[in-house]
Formats: sequence, C-alpha cells, structure tokens
Amino acid sequence: MITLPFRGPSAIDLATMPDLAGLGSLGTVTGARVDPAVFDYTASIRFDWRLYRHDVAGSIGHVRMLARAVPEIMPPADAKAIEDGLLAVCAEIDAQLHRLVPLGEDIHSHVELRLRQLLEERFPGRGEDMGRRLHTARSRNDQVATDVRLWCKNACVELAGAVLDLQAALLDRANRWPDAVFPGYTHLQPAQPVLFAHHLMAYYEMLARDLERLERAYVAADVLPLGSAALAGTTFAIQRDRTAAELGFSRVSANSMDAVSDRDFAVELLAAAALLMAHLSRLSEDLVVWASDEFGLIALSPRWAEGSSIMPQKRNPDAAELTRGKAGRVFGHLQSLLTVLKGLPMTYGRDLQEDKEALFDAAKTVRGALHALTVAVESLELRADRAAERAAAGYSTATDLADSLVRAGVPFRTAYDAVKRLVQHCAATNRPLDALTVDELRQFHPALGPEALAAAPVERSVAARNVPGGTAPAQVRQALVAATARTAVQRQRWQSLPCLTQPSA
Ligand code: ARG
Repeated sequence: MITLPFRGPSAIDLATMPDLAGLGSLGTVTGARVDPAVFDYTASIRFDWRLYRHDVAGSIGHVRMLARAVPEIMPPADAKAIEDGLLAVCAEIDAQLHRLVPLGEDIHSHVELRLRQLLEERFPGRGEDMGRRLHTARSRNDQVATDVRLWCKNACVELAGAVLDLQAALLDRANRWPDAVFPGYTHLQPAQPVLFAHHLMAYYEMLARDLERLERAYVAADVLPLGSAALAGTTFAIQRDRTAAELGFSRVSANSMDAVSDRDFAVELLAAAALLMAHLSRLSEDLVVWASDEFGLIALSPRWAEGSSIMPQKRNPDAAELTRGKAGRVFGHLQSLLTVLKGLPMTYGRDLQEDKEALFDAAKTVRGALHALTVAVESLELRADRAAERAAAGYSTATDLADSLVRAGVPFRTAYDAVKRLVQHCAATNRPLDALTVDELRQFHPALGPEALAAAPVERSVAARNVPGGTAPAQVRQALVAATARTAVQRQRWQSLPCLTQPSA
C-alpha cells in the first residue's frame, strides 16, 4: 500500500486552511477557453486543492497498476518517472500549501499539468508525452470519487480519534468522583439522585454509538471506484484489485455507472457528523446549565471559559455555546448534500462537486467541537457539596418511599398516591422527607414505617438502583472498568485501519 513520505497536515488540518485567492486566468486540461466569469464560478481548485495528497496517491496507485497490467502502454520505467514526478508535485504543494499557484480548474488538472511540466524539465523532449499517458483508462469522474473516498476514510479515522479523546476525558472525570451524588433531571426538574459518574458515562455511551457510526461511514467509503472511467468502464485490461490494494481499499465497485455518481458514503459521514454534533450540543447545554450560578454544580476552568469584556465577575462557557450554535451548520451540510443527490440523473453531474465544501466544513467543525469539549470536560471541577445538596432537594427520593411500600405488599399505584400526599404535605410545611417521624408517616399509609424512612437518604436511593445500567456505585464502577477496556480496544482498532495519512499526533 502507498504511504506518502511527508508527515504534514492531516486531512482535516488541510480542511481548516483558507481557500486560495484569485485564480487569474487558468487553463483547463482539455484546453477549453471559457469566459472568465464562468470559469471562476465552475472551478473547484479554490477548495479542492486540499485533496492533493489523495489525488497524488490515487494517481500513483493507478500508474503502478498500468505498468503491471498494460506495460506495452505504460512502460515500467515511465511509470517510475511518473511516480517520482507525482511525489515531487506533492512535495511542492506540501511546501506551498495555501500559497499554491494553481495551474488548472481543479486539483486533478493541477496535479496533471504540473506533473507534465516537471517531467518535461527532467526528460526534455519526451517528459510531457510521458505525463500525457497517465490519464489512460481513467476519467476525472472515477478519479474524483476515489480522492473523496480516500479523504473520507482519513476524516473518519481522525474524528474517531477525537471522539476517543473526549471519551477518555469523561472517564477521567468519572474516575475522579466515582461516588459523588448528583441531581438527576427529567424535564429539567429534579427527578432522582444519580452518581455524577453515571451522568458522565451517559455521554460516554452516546459517543460509543458515534464511533460505530463513524466506522460504518469508513466502511461505506472503503470501495474503489477507479476503473469505472467516465461511466461505462474502460477498453484496457486493467487490474482493479491491484489498484485497490495499492490504495488500501477493501473492495472494488460493482457497477461503473453507480460508482461515478455515488456519494452515499459522503452522506453517511455527514449523517454521522450531524448526530455526533447533536450529542455534543447536548453535552454543551449540560455544561452551560451546571455552570450557571443558579445550578452551581460545576466550576469552569479558565482554560476554556472566557471572561466578559464589560462584566469583570463573569466567566462564560463560550465554547459550549458555540457548539450548540455550530450544530446547525453541520445539519445544514447533510441537508445540502442530500439535496444535491436528489433527482441527479445518471451518472456523473457537475452538481457532485458540491460534496466537498460540505464535507470539509463539517469535519473541521466537528473536530473543533470535540477538541474544545475535551478541554472543557477534562478541566471541569465538580462542586461536590453543592451537588449533594441539590441531589437531595425536591423530594428526589419519593419514589424510594413508594418502592418500600410496594415491598410491604402495597400495590404500586396505591403507594404512589400515599407518597404523593406525603410529599405535598412536606412541601406545604417546608420539611424534608427524612425529618418526619414514623408516627407522622403512618398518617399517610399504615404500612409506612422505619423501612420507608431508611429508604429516604440519597446515598441509599442511589445504592438501591443496583440493576445492570443503573446508577448504584457497584454498577457504575463496573461500567467504568468495562469502558476503560473498550476505549483501549477501540484506539487500537482505529489506529490499524488502512488510510492514507494517519493524523499527526
Ligand atoms: N471538480 C470536479 C468535481 O469535483 C472534478 C470532476 C470533473 N469531471 C467532469 N466531468 N467535469 O466533481
């Protein structure tokens, strides 16, 4: 499999770089001379230059295969010269990055045109012709689909790494306060006490599903379209399996028409990104609520929470608010690509060029949110005393009293009614449940006795929820141990998945 020598920006790092500025008057590989306004409108080099590594790798895989399969057309020595030239083009862009002076309307044209120049410099009189053979048995349609699939595989691996980092931060904070109680809410009303660690692990589980979705997106992208040519396949006796092996694809596409117009894999990545972003916006909202003075459940670190420019006392959870806000743009990218695909006639249409900016922006937005929230989570401090106080507030253990009645043989609905009256009485007289005497309790139901009182403390309530998936300390400890092992396994898995550029640490 091809590995490029340069260890520069990762796929998503490239996506964060600025677009190229003016295009000047560029040529096209086909030699067409279109109106500059139209050219400016249709050219994609301003943003798709970021695919240069994937385009170079795709071409190397293609030319290596041609040298094996059709040496009479692509002599191995020429293939080697082309491969060296492609690596030189790659190194040149590595060095220029967004100061690149483009030669063509898109990255595929740029790489080919620059390759031909370099080859002609190295092999005067025949280098240009050598380079002109590269596009044998290939079209930009299967080429761009290959490039985007390679990019998506990289993006999945990078995003998975960032998800694993956030999961590790959640685990770290859960292990820091494994027994601390915390108010659990439904409808954002105090409901039942839980362990803080249990609450954090709820996010761990959501993110575990996001990892599964990213893996499915990786598998969806892991199909080689090259060899489909424009739409119908090619007249040359190419060996698609060989190209797939060179480029680290597990499968080759089964239908050339589908292959050049399929962007389902991009939709699947955007869908995974959108739901991940929905999860991150929920975590953000919890951080915002917990840190508010009214809740006061956690303290925010100055590592990420910024001050106000006018109110000296404030510390604002800006990155969490931005994550709520940025969820919308990722949902929008998913919607936009679905709309591009809707009603697209078979096969390739230039509409498909619109896939790239959606993918690039979604990936960089999600990765940014993951990084910021990792900092937020790993630096958060639980205000354990305040959390314990709020966990007990609002008669949060009323269900436990009802459950104790059920154990004494009372039907649950009857127990519920009795405890409801009891809680209303306590609220009216402003007394906590555990301040009641047994005699007082019995006024609400004859079976309410010492067992009911014993069930009222928060710690007892939490410990009693000792079912798999429940918040009892024994369950949560097991969950933490299991999650630590799962995260280690996942890290290894993701690091071993073939993709062109592993993110630089
Ligand atoms: N920039 C184009 C895209 O992103 C490359 C493929 C162009 N193919 C074509 N037949 N015009 O889709």
